[in-house]
Amino acid sequence: MRVNWRHLAIVLAVLPFIVLFVAWIGFFNVGASSGHWKITEWFLHFAMRSAVRTYALQVEVPHELPRHAIQTAAGHFARGCAICHGAPGEPRSPAALRMLPQPPELAQKIGEWNDAELFRIVKHGIRFTGMPAWPTQARDDEVWAMVAFLRALPPMEGEVYRQLAYGAGGTPSLRAVTIDQAVVECARCHGNDGAGRSSTIPVLAGQSEAYILESLLAFADERRPSGIMALASIAVDNQHFPELARRYAAMKSVGPPRPAPDPSLLEYGRAIATKGIVAANVPACVGCHEKPDRNPHYPNIAGQPSAYIKAQLELFRTGTRGGTRYSHLMAKVAKGLTDHDIEALANYFATLPASTATARR
Ligand code: HEC
Ligand code: HEC
Ligand code: HEC
Repeated sequence: MRVNWRHLAIVLAVLPFIVLFVAWIGFFNVGASSGHWKITEWFLHFAMRSAVRTYALQVEVPHELPRHAIQTAAGHFARGCAICHGAPGEPRSPAALRMLPQPPELAQKIGEWNDAELFRIVKHGIRFTGMPAWPTQARDDEVWAMVAFLRALPPMEGEVYRQLAYGAGGTPSLRAVTIDQAVVECARCHGNDGAGRSSTIPVLAGQSEAYILESLLAFADERRPSGIMALASIAVDNQHFPELARRYAAMKSVGPPRPAPDPSLLEYGRAIATKGIVAANVPACVGCHEKPDRNPHYPNIAGQPSAYIKAQLELFRTGTRGGTRYSHLMAKVAKGLTDHDIEALANYFATLPASTATARR
């Protein structure tokens, strides 16, 4: 049969108008109550899985998942994911069960995806489903922390989850309206003593009030990108920020100095901290961070966990850290640091007792 090109061209030209017309009269049922047809459901999932698989090919997987960050990710999961997916010992909300598609209980699904695919889903979300993207696209370390947590999900008991996500402070409120509720929210990760519940969380106890307050504001309006702190800071009424800053600043940073993860790097770390690296244009760290009468926006880094220091220096070096109105100073410092320098500095500052260096001005 000969194709009549003229007729085909007319059909193709008119088709979009027919589709537009059908949409305009409201033929497509966008209600979620009746569910999808079986074929539509199959097709949507098929397309979603294929897209995730294909885009995951570009993801560079770290050689080890950051298991040391599981507590932090569990804390974020409780605020940002459990409302739809439920959590160990906590069923999904009735509203989530009426979504189309329904957010699945993740423990049963994790095995179907590899690490790169989970990363892809958690970082970018899934269009047309309600599955949101990570609150910031500027950094990947937090997303990998969540992948490590998801991997630990399938055999996790409710009690273990609650301990990770809530600590000793009890269940957080949906939105922290009072100062007491705000304190419970922060203590889930920062602990009741401000010491931080894992090595990815900074010590707040004894940090200067000005620095804590400015940092909170920077997280809330995304000048300092952190999906975890963005959600935590907007979960709290911001009129409480000054009081929270005051309370953490007033806490005593206690506890013995941390052991060095790699003692062989201590001497080199100390040398950079006190003298800088002239050839790489890196000034001495102590010039800004250790003077007791310094600008109070220059934080105390002595006694911070080495994993935290390392992550922050890497963020500064790539220009993504942000922070207070003085953060550009630190970005300039970090430009000249190599991976080895960062490792050594993180080792060195983690072993110092915290109280040596709190800004008192
Ligand atoms: C507003 C509701 C909502 C929130 C909040 C949410 N998700 Fe989802 N998520 C969904 C829905 C809906 C799907 C199902 C998509 C589908 O079936 O195609 C999904 C799918 C997923 C999947 C793929 C599971 C599978 O096999 O279908 C993972 C993994 C996931 N979400 C992780 C997370 C994580 C981690 C968080 C928190 C950072 C989160 N989600 C927050 C709604 C949500
Ligand atoms: C789910 C865990 C979690 C919760 C809840 C949480 N934080 Fe954080 N907080 C973190 C992590 C992780 C970081 C490090 C962020 C980064 O890597 O930039 C952080 C960083 C901070 C910093 C920056 C400190 C520094 O040395 O730069 C401040 C200030 C802070 N949090 C205050 C709070 C307050 C106040 C609350 C309660 C409203 C709170 N956080 C709730 C996990 C949490
Ligand atoms: C010119 C002053 C200056 C010098 C020199 C300096 N810093 Fe900083 N640093 C800052 C400021 C300001 C901040 C706070 C950035 C913000 O959040 O606004 C900071 C923040 C940091 C943080 C993040 C702390 C936290 O709690 O999040 C680390 C880690 C750090 N500096 C390490 C170093 C190291 C290591 C050196 C030496 C190689 C160094 N700094 C040299 C000014 C300086």
